[in-house]
Amino acid sequence: MRNLDQHTITQEAIDRLAGTPDPRVREVLTSLIRHLHDFAREVNLTEDEWARGIAFLTATGQKCNDKRQEFILLSDVLGLSMLTVAMNNAKPPECTEATVFGPFFVDGAPHYENGDDVANGASGEPCEVSGSIRGLDGRPVAGARIDVWQADAQGLYDVQRDDLDTAQGRGVLHADEAGMYRFRTVLAQAYPIPTDGPVGELLTATARHPWRPAHLHFRIEAPGYETLVTHVFREDDKWLDSDAVFGVRQSLIAPWVRREDGSYALHYDFVLNPVARG
Ligand code: BEZ
Ligand code: FE
Repeated sequence: MRNLDQHTITQEAIDRLAGTPDPRVREVLTSLIRHLHDFAREVNLTEDEWARGIAFLTATGQKCNDKRQEFILLSDVLGLSMLTVAMNNAKPPECTEATVFGPFFVDGAPHYENGDDVANGASGEPCEVSGSIRGLDGRPVAGARIDVWQADAQGLYDVQRDDLDTAQGRGVLHADEAGMYRFRTVLAQAYPIPTDGPVGELLTATARHPWRPAHLHFRIEAPGYETLVTHVFREDDKWLDSDAVFGVRQSLIAPWVRREDGSYALHYDFVLNPVARG
């Protein structure tokens, strides 16, 4: 175990995991070491470059607080979040597809009745959102819990506004007995993901734009069904084919219809996947 070289060190590092009690932890770390070492060899990583990498990861951690999660953002722009979503959400094609969770969900959002205005003062053009929640068998999922959250007309979530201490553009609703939901809000707009941190530097260094196409976030939960975390995207958005976090799915794109009074309406029906019975 002395005089390890750039080839033999990998197996030695893996062998040190032999006493790991949890087999899954051992499996994941073994693969991580193998891929990290292969990566360093493949790019001939210099000591300066690795020091810069560590500085970048340190800055990413230092940017995190209870309202800002720079590591989620990093995972998102590298495509790792959507890869994980894609691998873990295989379901029948009739079911609504999942997409990236994102960093702006907040637990404990205010509860609303169907028909209420979840904007709660957020800026933007008025918009009514409605639809149904059904299972794969077509039956309504009465009482399904629906978390919604979205950015305002300036492309900001309430948690990004230091001057705000109330929830705006987010809330919890429940589907009625027929599985229908309905709420008022403001028109979703495209927005750039936060660029004032290390992830912004990464985007600049790689000549990438930070924009996400306009969307509404949904998390839908009901007993007997897999929890669905998804968005609905506006079909007229120019960023649909280059979403900064790779989250767009064709089946999640829908028309926001402009009504005569200038307000907008979105109708979207969700189909939940039943939990597999063991
Ligand atoms: C979002 O849609 O809220 C989001 C997702 C990934 C990164 C940044 C924002
Ligand atoms: Fe979003």
